[in-house]
Amino acid sequence: MKKIGLLGCGAIGTQIAMAIDSGKIDGTLTHVFDESKEVAQTLVSKLTNKPEIVENSHLLSSHPVNIVVEAASQDAVKDVGLSVLQNKRDLMIMSVGALLDESIYDILSDACKDFKKTIYLPSGAIAGLDAIKSVKDELESLSITTTKHPHSLKGAKFFETSEVNLEEVSSPTIIFEGTAKEAVSLFPANINVAALLSLSGIGSEKTRVKIVADPDTDKNTHHIEASGKFGKMSFTIENFPDPNNPKTSRLAILSAIETLRKYCTDEIQIGT
Ligand SMILES: NC(=O)c1ccc[n+]([C@@H]2O[C@H](COP(=O)([O-])OP(=O)(O)OC[C@H]3O[C@@H](n4cnc5c(N)ncnc54)[C@H](O)[C@@H]3O)[C@@H](O)[C@H]2O)c1
Repeated sequence: MKKIGLLGCGAIGTQIAMAIDSGKIDGTLTHVFDESKEVAQTLVSKLTNKPEIVENSHLLSSHPVNIVVEAASQDAVKDVGLSVLQNKRDLMIMSVGALLDESIYDILSDACKDFKKTIYLPSGAIAGLDAIKSVKDELESLSITTTKHPHSLKGAKFFETSEVNLEEVSSPTIIFEGTAKEAVSLFPANINVAALLSLSGIGSEKTRVKIVADPDTDKNTHHIEASGKFGKMSFTIENFPDPNNPKTSRLAILSAIETLRKYCTDEIQIGT
């Protein structure tokens, strides 16, 4: 049975841990870490099979786990990503925006080859990455429009310099238009999907992103359009936000659980 270490015990980490504890994922959660010890303790108190809480994030991969699952923050990826691979553990990353920093991407990508380990990036809150990956060499344009309630956008770095006041948004309003690279740095906790899309397709400088604040929506909606020599495709995903963290969609959690379930199981692999 695969042994799992978990970095980040918030909305996503908790649901992953509970899926392991309930047997939905055929693995063992052996070690966890969160920068808030209280949050880690709260998670452990909910589990029947109790993992050990380690004292710092680097200790997760010094134990004999098969994989470390990151569900914490971009900083956490930058801090421990390399040492996880150097310790010959696989790594699953939820804070995918960290990989749009080319130096981080190159370091982790080289480390996968050097240490023969794999980084898994679940599809997160979007669909269609299988098709985007397949047509990547023929893509001419790729864009994503993300619509969220203003509450789900609050606290982003973008608002430190922007004149947009989310409290005053009374109808659907485009608050940002730019590249995926810009979007990920200005909305690090909101727009991991743009990072995933650009990594699957034509890169973060060429992937266009629009962010819409809509005070009348109760969903996180992503509309993706792709075109090129292969033809055209479009996908719209209407996600319900997770009640514990409205920035995170329910689908992002389910896709993380499915990726880890597949990692822990020998079975027929469906999809590209
Ligand atoms: N790939 C996707 O589609 C997708 C979707 C939603 C969220 N995310 C990302 O996944 C991550 C987790 O999301 P969430 O909804 O569970 O967030 P959350 O805020 O509910 O939980 C994050 C937890 O990680 C802890 N943490 C933060 N930085 C840390 C660090 N450096 N070391 C240790 N612990 C740390 C926090 O204390 C918190 O308990 C976020 O970075 C989020 O942006 C990705």
